[in-house]
Amino acid sequence: MLEGKNIVLGVSGGIAAYKACALTSKLVQKGANVKVIMTENAQQFVQPLTFQALSRNPVFTDTFDEQDAAKIAHIDLADTADFIILAPATANVLGKVANGIADDMLTTTLLATEAPVYVAPAMNVHMYGHPSVQNNMQRLFEYGYKFIEPGEGFLACGYVGKGRLEEPEKIVSIIEEDLHKPRLLQGKHVLVTAGPTREAIDPVRFFTNHSSGKMGYAIAGQASLFGAKVTLISGPTQLPSPPGVTRIEIESADEMYREVLRHYGQSDIVIKAAAVADYRPKETFDHKMKKKEGSLTVEMERTKDILQTLGEQKKHQFLVGFAAETNDPLRYGKEKLQKKHLNAIVVNDVSKQGAGFQTDTNAVTYLSRTGREVSMPVMSKQDIAKKLLICIREDIKEEE
Ligand code: CTP
Repeated sequence: MLEGKNIVLGVSGGIAAYKACALTSKLVQKGANVKVIMTENAQQFVQPLTFQALSRNPVFTDTFDEQDAAKIAHIDLADTADFIILAPATANVLGKVANGIADDMLTTTLLATEAPVYVAPAMNVHMYGHPSVQNNMQRLFEYGYKFIEPGEGFLACGYVGKGRLEEPEKIVSIIEEDLHKPRLLQGKHVLVTAGPTREAIDPVRFFTNHSSGKMGYAIAGQASLFGAKVTLISGPTQLPSPPGVTRIEIESADEMYREVLRHYGQSDIVIKAAAVADYRPKETFDHKMKKKEGSLTVEMERTKDILQTLGEQKKHQFLVGFAAETNDPLRYGKEKLQKKHLNAIVVNDVSKQGAGFQTDTNAVTYLSRTGREVSMPVMSKQDIAKKLLICIREDIKEEE
């Protein structure tokens, strides 16, 4: 898996820097071309010459020490890397990258790259547990960084606990396993909608529904793990963005309509898991409505059916709708598949136990115009998402 790969190894200043020497050697033995970037602090622990001898490449330590006038070193490293490994990753470097600080060769390269980044943190157990470090790691995780968790054991600072850099053999095998994963949707642009919409009546009140967004977020996250470039257009939810996914936040059905159409042309697969309002108040007040005697009647008007519009404008896209039903789900699902010109529909019997809104599980049937009918019993929304994407991939192949 690693033969011929261009790997940039970023070494930051912790005692575990000595283990990065063994890591370099293992990667080189596997046939990889390893280029090492060291921070100033890392050089307090290990000499650049050690990495130069092990990698048989020059070691990069200074952004302004440009050896080749034809190239800007940090951009060249960022562009040519198949992936970057940051090991050991100190709290300081994690904090800088999570906050967009680029003040040395390593952090400028990390911000400039679009290659996958594997991060192996190593630090004192209390530093590792500090909320600011945890928040920075969470943020990087959401940006798509892949974490190789530190092991537990004896730490150089005298403590026993979590913070020890994972062993070099283990780092190599985790990366090999990750590279080996099926990349079912490599090269595909996937557009997912999720969550509820809010239809305002005045600045403080709105109509909405019970959608939590969990199903759509699980699909977006799994599609990203399958190698797709994912855009998630989301109504208001409490959920963190899945790693590696670009999220666009909207509130109303009308805003969702505009964002979805803006991204439709460049999408290969569109999955509309959002629970979009069918009606909105005909009149919206700029100021908070005052209560009056008697009852209140709010006149509602239809929103645009986004899925219907996408079906009508469809070119190369594989279009998947959702149908939330409470009775005779398959019949209504089949009708919507035809009526909205969809390639597939996911029928959701929301009256069933363990299915539908708010829950972490779901039970659905996937129906497609190729005639595929796959019923998925109650399971986690993550597993449903995986199975749906596999069905979609199979159908795309069949339609090609
Ligand atoms: N949908 C949409 N735009 C709307 C309403 C719904 O794009 N204004 C999409 C949803 O994202 C979902 C699908 O339509 O993928 C089905 O939604 P659902 O509410 O089950 O069905 P409707 O088509 O609205 O039909 P009905 O209300 O008659 O069941």
